[in-house]
Amino acid sequence: MLNLGIIGIGRIGKVHAQSITYHLKNAHVKAIADPQMNDGNRQWAKELGVDACYEDYRQILADPQIDAVLVCSSTPTHADISIEAIRAGKHVFCEKPVSQDASKIVEVMRALEGTGLKFQVGFNRRFDHNFEAVRGAVASGAIGDLHIVKITSRDPDSPPIEYVKVSGGMFLDMTIHDFDMVRYLSGSDVTEVYVNAAVLVNPEIGRAGDVDTAIITMKLASGALAVIDNSRRAAYGYDQRAEVFGSKGQAAVSNDTASSVVISSENGVTGEKPLYFFLERYMDSFSKEVGMFVDAILNHTEVPVNVNDGLQPVLIALAAKRSMLENRPVKLSEIAY
Ligand SMILES: NC(=O)c1ccc[n+]([C@@H]2O[C@H](COP(=O)([O-])OP(=O)(O)OC[C@H]3O[C@@H](n4cnc5c(N)ncnc54)[C@H](O)[C@@H]3O)[C@@H](O)[C@H]2O)c1
Repeated sequence: MLNLGIIGIGRIGKVHAQSITYHLKNAHVKAIADPQMNDGNRQWAKELGVDACYEDYRQILADPQIDAVLVCSSTPTHADISIEAIRAGKHVFCEKPVSQDASKIVEVMRALEGTGLKFQVGFNRRFDHNFEAVRGAVASGAIGDLHIVKITSRDPDSPPIEYVKVSGGMFLDMTIHDFDMVRYLSGSDVTEVYVNAAVLVNPEIGRAGDVDTAIITMKLASGALAVIDNSRRAAYGYDQRAEVFGSKGQAAVSNDTASSVVISSENGVTGEKPLYFFLERYMDSFSKEVGMFVDAILNHTEVPVNVNDGLQPVLIALAAKRSMLENRPVKLSEIAY
């Protein structure tokens, strides 16, 4: 049994605490920490069987019975907390992105060197049953040599403007998952990015210096090409589809729906809308990713999403930002860190 501490108990910290408690037999949430700890959180934690609630995460790091931590706090805190946790001898599961600053991720890499500690990044979409099957079709050679990766990724609604202002921009906050998906599905690194982007959903997002709609094309080290289309608002819900195309065929995945029923009547033929957002669509993936982190620690095996997998999408996002600002293709090798 592995004892875990969760640092940051907002939206995603709570998802992990619940999925560990309800789905993992070999891990226990021993403590949670959040500077915003309140009676509601304490009561919620008690009902979940969590032993201790702290305001300061350093109390988790000081507990010798805690083997590993999940860093689920706000993005700007991830890298420094991860480094402190590594120095305290804890394995780390860090939510995405590890940092918006690539050089901070390199600091995390350096802190890990020679420690033997596990460090996994929270790119949960890799553990979605559909995307795993698409990756399987590429890895097995079923579609032959990969030529094109196409990802559609549209949120059901734009986030609050206060969130947009501190998010680091759409590419580092939202598209980062899609950049990871391009690497995961293709099994290849990205070498060059070109972006067309616009503000079409909410003018306030533009006033905050960000975009809400984008078409991103990429060249991969393997020679294949990739395209992502993003919107902060799809009127019909969370639109997350992927297609890989190769010399022998293609593999595609559509949206998950609450049911697959199709109703036909004199008015037309209708089906379910996509599941509303990531909590509805990807719930299983959250317990699966942490399950694999726990297994990697207990069985001394490699984590499935390592620190370099955390770094690469950030480099792609930074190249995408530069491509948008300079209106030209940007090579990843241009991004200094
Ligand atoms: N993998 C995913 O699909 C996914 C989904 C949502 C969020 N995230 C990531 O998870 C992180 C948190 O997002 P969220 O939506 O839960 O945000 P949130 O604002 O709901 O929660 C963040 C929590 O961190 C706490 N916090 C801030 N500084 C802290 C510190 N020093 N120590 C401990 N706690 C601290 C805040 O008080 C807050 O309760 C972000 O980096 C985000 O990108 C990932």
